[in-house]
Amino acid sequence: MVNFVGRRQELAALERELQKVAAGAGGERPGRCVMLRGRRRVGKSRLVERFVERSGVPFLFFAATGASPGNDLARLARDAQASTLPLARLVAAARPESWDAAFDVLAAALPADRASVLVIDEVPYLVDADGAFEGMLQRAWDRVLETKPVLLVLIGSDLSMMEALNTYGRPFHQRGREMVLGPLNPAEVGRMLGLEPAEAFDAALVTGGLPLICAEWPHGAGLWDFLDEALNDPVSALLVSAERSLAAEFPPQAQARTVLAAIGSGERTFTNIARAAGGSGPHHCSARWSCSRRSGSSPRSCPCPRGRRRTDATGWRTPTCGSGCTFWAPPWRRSSGDGAI
Ligand SMILES: Nc1ncnc2c1ncn2[C@@H]1O[C@H](COP(=O)(O)OP(=O)(O)OP(=O)(O)O)[C@@H](O)[C@H]1O
Ligand SMILES: [Mg+2]
Repeated sequence: MVNFVGRRQELAALERELQKVAAGAGGERPGRCVMLRGRRRVGKSRLVERFVERSGVPFLFFAATGASPGNDLARLARDAQASTLPLARLVAAARPESWDAAFDVLAAALPADRASVLVIDEVPYLVDADGAFEGMLQRAWDRVLETKPVLLVLIGSDLSMMEALNTYGRPFHQRGREMVLGPLNPAEVGRMLGLEPAEAFDAALVTGGLPLICAEWPHGAGLWDFLDEALNDPVSALLVSAERSLAAEFPPQAQARTVLAAIGSGERTFTNIARAAGGSGPHHCSARWSCSRRSGSSPRSCPCPRGRRRTDATGWRTPTCGSGCTFWAPPWRRSSGDGAI
């Protein structure tokens, strides 16, 4: 694994939050929450791992797997055993069977007299797997977790869902402070790759500042040497991440060629590039999609590709299609140019 580079500001921001928690210890509600989001593979988990390791306070880092709630709760018990929380064994011993119970045990395991950190990585998996997760998290936060001097860090790469978690009308509204992690900046890329400033800018543009692409750049190598190697290797991080971004963020019919042609012809915003590549730009599901789930009314068909992927036996019901969900308008809406469903 390459050595950790950069992220000075982000580490400092997390450190400040932790100091506020520590300063509030002994008070009524010292707990604080940070909701960290960013694109896939941008370095969210590594940043927080680095932060907790350097923090000097006891911590528990739990990463959800997206399996069933039962499996994730078993995972939590195992992660607790590896944690530095003095009472972490409580979590393993209690074997909680619901997130509600797990939060109560976690709260009991957190020190009351000194700061600690609780990290929940891949939160969107938990929200997906259990529609009640957000409500249970809110209850636990309001009733027990916030009363402990704990910094709760929620991490997720599903941008729309992480953003939606904090919106009005969602259970966790205004409980966490949002933090968005961007790519490594040119200075950080330059330091990571051992490049002079001008070359570092080229490298930042080509790699997009994604650490895992930078990690395949031989230290000190020139741009063309790197490209020669990466473009000739079908499983290079450069090619694979581009392919994944195309699949996840553009309409299904978009070709890399059309996306690149749009950029080459001067389009600079995501919406315009997407439009040129055959979509009508991202739209947001109207609140009624999330409402239909919450109010328990009958499931409706959802044109969101994410929703479609997650269709269950009840038809088109989607457990994830929240009000912040971004989707591509189906062809029959494209001509209208309006984003509403
Ligand atoms: N600051 C950094 N310095 C060096 N390497 C890094 C840095 N940040 C991330 N990496 C490396 O980049 C890769 C992706 O990082 P990480 O897994 O933290 O991303 P992520 O945003 O959590 O991804 P996902 O969305 O899949 O959860 C890993 O191999 C990690 O070691
Ligand atoms: Mg991660």
